[in-house]
Amino acid sequence: MSTAASAPSGDRRPLVVMEQVNKHFGDLHVLRDIDLTVHEGEVVVLIGPSGSGKSTLCRTINRLETIESGSISIDGRPLPEEGKALAQLRSDVGMVFQSFNLFAHKTILDNVTLGPTKVRGVGRKDAEARARQLLDRVGVGHQADKYPAQLSGGQQQRVAIARSLAMDPKVMLFDEPTSALDPEMINEVLDVMTQLARSGMTMIVVTHEMGFARKAADRVVFMSDGRIVEQATPEQFFTNPQSDRAKDFLGKILTH
Ligand SMILES: Nc1ncnc2c1ncn2[C@@H]1O[C@H](COP(=O)(O)OP(=O)(O)O)[C@@H](O)[C@H]1O
Ligand SMILES: [Mg+2]
Repeated sequence: MSTAASAPSGDRRPLVVMEQVNKHFGDLHVLRDIDLTVHEGEVVVLIGPSGSGKSTLCRTINRLETIESGSISIDGRPLPEEGKALAQLRSDVGMVFQSFNLFAHKTILDNVTLGPTKVRGVGRKDAEARARQLLDRVGVGHQADKYPAQLSGGQQQRVAIARSLAMDPKVMLFDEPTSALDPEMINEVLDVMTQLARSGMTMIVVTHEMGFARKAADRVVFMSDGRIVEQATPEQFFTNPQSDRAKDFLGKILTH
């Protein structure tokens, strides 16, 4: 068990545990001795300069990237290498990216029911009922029969969130979910994420939206050059960053 510093977590169970994880791309050492434990219901915001390894860290958690050393487990089980167990793991870990990747030729409803019917074996009727419920929850219930191109970017990203939730994931990863959106659409997506956080979802969120971090995060994890440099509550981190790198980073983002 990692003893890395973290916010108090009571006796909630650890859902994502990374221990001494290392990853290279060729000569580039992108993840260095990463120790990170995320507990059930916890919301962790991952921030740091571009190229610091945030996306790679997220991608190792559902094994879109392999690692060279260390270990990662989800809900007490080590990441499977391949096959059925890997498909199961991927559906336990929801992921929302900058680009929404909805199927253009399928309706909004079909985009959301596809995973549950094909991967989870849920019946069509049940999948639709649940999809409509989730689409309502993210505020696009009335768009269910449209196609992705008929929706705004903010609406499409909320559909992408509903699609992930339809798989009943144990943890949700968000990698800069609002970075590709026009400014007026950012809040509608962050509001959905904030609600999700308050509902008790376990979340790891890479974002430059510091307002969201302050409002919704239990813990901020700051990365630089492939390392976790410091972690603290949002209040502590934003008002009293410890490392020079975090101070430098905050100076740049808050003044622009
Ligand atoms: N598939 C890849 N092949 C080679 N280098 C990569 C690949 N993906 C990311 N990198 C490099 O790894 C480093 C970390 O990237 P990334 O995890 O995307 O950082 P961040 O998300 O913090 O901006 C960067 O230097 C990036 O150029
Ligand atoms: Mg990234």
